[in-house]
Amino acid sequence: MNILLRGAAVVTVNEKREIISGGDIVVEGEKISYVGPHKEWDRSFDRIIDGTGRMVAPGFVNAHGHAAMSLLRSYADDVPLMYWLEKRIWPIEAKLKREDVYWGTMLAILEMLKSGTTTFVDMYFFMDQVAEAAEEAGMRAVLARGLVGIGHLAEKGLDESKQFVRDWQGRGQGRITTMLGPHAPYTCPPEYLKKVIALQEELSVPIHIHISETLDEVNRIKEQYGVSPVVLLRDTGLLTRPVLAAHCVHLSGEDMDILRDYGVHVAHNPGSNLKLGSGIAPVPDLLARGVTVGLGTDGAASNNNLDMMEEMRLAALLHKGSRMDPTLITADDALAMATRESAKAAFLADVGVVAPGMKADLIMIDLNRPHLVPQHNLTAHLVYAAQPGDITLVMVDGKVLVEDGKPTTLDEEKILFQAQQRAIHLVKPDSN
Ligand code: NI
Repeated sequence: MNILLRGAAVVTVNEKREIISGGDIVVEGEKISYVGPHKEWDRSFDRIIDGTGRMVAPGFVNAHGHAAMSLLRSYADDVPLMYWLEKRIWPIEAKLKREDVYWGTMLAILEMLKSGTTTFVDMYFFMDQVAEAAEEAGMRAVLARGLVGIGHLAEKGLDESKQFVRDWQGRGQGRITTMLGPHAPYTCPPEYLKKVIALQEELSVPIHIHISETLDEVNRIKEQYGVSPVVLLRDTGLLTRPVLAAHCVHLSGEDMDILRDYGVHVAHNPGSNLKLGSGIAPVPDLLARGVTVGLGTDGAASNNNLDMMEEMRLAALLHKGSRMDPTLITADDALAMATRESAKAAFLADVGVVAPGMKADLIMIDLNRPHLVPQHNLTAHLVYAAQPGDITLVMVDGKVLVEDGKPTTLDEEKILFQAQQRAIHLVKPDSN
């Protein structure tokens, strides 16, 4: 299938931050083959999409989340992380069945696609169901089975991770890639992490882990091991592997130097960190050191949506306000973080930029809206003014998955119904 997107303003998010007004994009199969000025083409296309009055940008890459937690949206709000996890979330998660995870993930995918996210990075359990949902929907996904290294299921988790990587790496025409997902240093002690490292060496997939999310976590690790979580992970050998670290809120200067020296990628989750009162990650300091920082929403139970536009806006506003410096995290920085840098953070080499040779993961936005007129700066529009409802078309791997704001591969009504029913059943006191 060849598609021509004709005459749109193209926000490429390439390293030069090029914006092409009235540009053409040619998609051949799953890839972009041309991005540049509008031309009179003397060849035929299977489909021509008119981009007049529209902007095209890379689809968003949600660098950290737990899609199926959408079933727990608005179930536990306004409480601290440890209470939230131990008293509210984990007891319900213990009751989750495969079908719950499938429909929770479908709900998340529906929300993500409609709000312009084309790739999601996920860590959870019953990952076969997450992968199936992503495959069916046509979405790109980077998936890890979450591992907890204490308790009787620790070893089983390693076996299941291995099987998951073998079953799913490269499936969905390459749209699905896998990682290993040790949950966090406080749930995975060093001796368990050494087993994860050995498995990583065997499977050669990256590692996705939560690090230094709260001050409480950092204090617990310091009491137990005498060092920060980052130092503990370095000493365990984990950071010599390719690592995506979610949160990284409480970091010392030494921690940040270690993340830089070991090439650790970071997923910034400003909405979740604010909502759980965890704090503000030192993103400007990480960027100043040259650390790759992507952007994620975390699960919908702690956000409470999966809207990457809102997340970009938070990332751009938060650091300006907290440090009283409006030059921090510019619109260009925030947009790159949500697209190109998130893709890099998730170890995806050909995603996140509108350029020839890259995967055709694109969003199209209607500029003919009161809050998007006039158009002095399209990047600023995307970060500070645009809304998910402005998105008219979403393409993943060269296939149109949302058109005129409606999903093309998903039965929206059925997903909403199933998710609602399953969520109600889950939180009933006597259900199991
Ligand atoms: Ni998380």
